[in-house]
Amino acid sequence: MRKIVAGNWKMNGTRENLVEIKKISDRFSGSDVDIVICPPFTLLSAAKEIATNIFIGAQNLHVENSGAYTGEISAVMLEDLSVTHAIIGHSERRNEYGETNDVVARKVTTALKKKLNVILCIGESELERNENKTLSVLKEQIYGSLKDITDIENIIVAYEPIWAIGTGLTPSLAEISTTHDSIRLNLLEMYGSSASNIPILYGGSVNGLNASEIFSVANVNGALVGGASLSFDTFSPIVKAIENKT
Ligand code: PGA
Repeated sequence: MRKIVAGNWKMNGTRENLVEIKKISDRFSGSDVDIVICPPFTLLSAAKEIATNIFIGAQNLHVENSGAYTGEISAVMLEDLSVTHAIIGHSERRNEYGETNDVVARKVTTALKKKLNVILCIGESELERNENKTLSVLKEQIYGSLKDITDIENIIVAYEPIWAIGTGLTPSLAEISTTHDSIRLNLLEMYGSSASNIPILYGGSVNGLNASEIFSVANVNGALVGGASLSFDTFSPIVKAIENKT
């Protein structure tokens, strides 16, 4: 199983922050962890040039490859920059830009056609959690977001409880274990035994202090990191926590 630590910079970072990406790339040359940094679109090209030992990903893409979609970025444009990964269906996209499972599914299809590795985000809201709907919401998101997909080789799933994003709150290890096991079962139901190779990342307030225990949970194959990915000093301990782990 691949181990992956991905950093989602969201709408943060200008050229002066590229040095953080360079430091991460230099320090983790030869690491057994796939490191993916997803800066804003404006930094993708420069990041690709300086980060030769890690992967560079986008945070979103449009369903279509070109056309009259002011302000949007397509998979063709990402391919042109040799970007290797794309986050799709982040809860901030789902909630603030109305991305339904259907839209997410179309984006996943578009991305896979351009050979991008997809980091598909799923996660329940606080209300859904309180109503004990977490596992059913996740199942619906998995089935809905992957409904047209048959080739899962480039799929990575990131479980991100919405209430844990940027709040400093995390589920208990037992809860993470239950949800990740359930996600694995859903994927096995859909794709059979090959789904045992789909990496499942945990995301939501991961930091250098809690990463080791989160990575000790079965079916946690890495992390999607927001705030702590913005600097080398806060991101490195998270990568180190999963490096050399079997
Ligand atoms: P956080 O964000 O690590 O800042 O909680 C995670 C994410 O939204 O991907």
